[in-house]
Amino acid sequence: MKRRLQLVLAGLALALSGHAAQAACEAGKAGYELTPTEATAVYDCLKAELLDGYLQGDKRWIPADYVASYRSWTPASAFPAAPGFHGERLLMTYVNEIGADTYLEYRDEGVIVPAGTVIAKESFAVDEQGKVQPGPLFIMEKVEAGRSPQTDDWFYMAVAPNGSPMAMDVISACSECHQQNFGAQGGLGYPVPEARVTR
Ligand code: HEC
Repeated sequence: MKRRLQLVLAGLALALSGHAAQAACEAGKAGYELTPTEATAVYDCLKAELLDGYLQGDKRWIPADYVASYRSWTPASAFPAAPGFHGERLLMTYVNEIGADTYLEYRDEGVIVPAGTVIAKESFAVDEQGKVQPGPLFIMEKVEAGRSPQTDDWFYMAVAPNGSPMAMDVISACSECHQQNFGAQGGLGYPVPEARVTR
């Protein structure tokens, strides 16, 4: 009984500290008004909390090591930018070693993405009042040719801000938009040009 209470209190303290951390990441203005420097400051504030959230709990069908290691991959975003897709959220993209060279060329045609490429994209929202809210971690993995013809051999996955894998119809929720809009560039949307890390 006593132990149970301690656990509840520990949980409460965690929840409260989580809340406090979030409150500290006020942007002060709407997301679309943020300069790159301001967007970076919000990201720096939110960074640890965002990752802690994604890491919570069992990842089930999503390879847990993608979530555990994506921060050590090559960043493709110089600062968080919101292109309007992905629910107006500000985005930060990371590419694993297999895919980094191809991705960072940002070619608009003839893109051949090597199998084993994994791309992770963090997201967070900043509302009209400047309130900051963690968003999902979006993941794309290029699998061997012929394994998933309907999605051009991309596996799409998403982890909710609380770490739960998000169940969805990836064809309609992810693949159709990527293939229809970016089919010529291998299904890749790329960060907006001014936010791209180049080599
Ligand atoms: C309405 C169109 C649309 C839908 C639906 C969509 N995306 Fe995207 N996605 C984009 C755009 C545009 C970009 C590039 C945006 C940026 O990084 O600034 C992008 C980028 C990405 C990236 C980074 C790699 C890249 O393409 O540059 C990942 C990973 C990703 N999306 C995963 C997903 C997943 C998983 C889903 C489904 C849950 C999904 N997307 C649904 C439009 C879409």
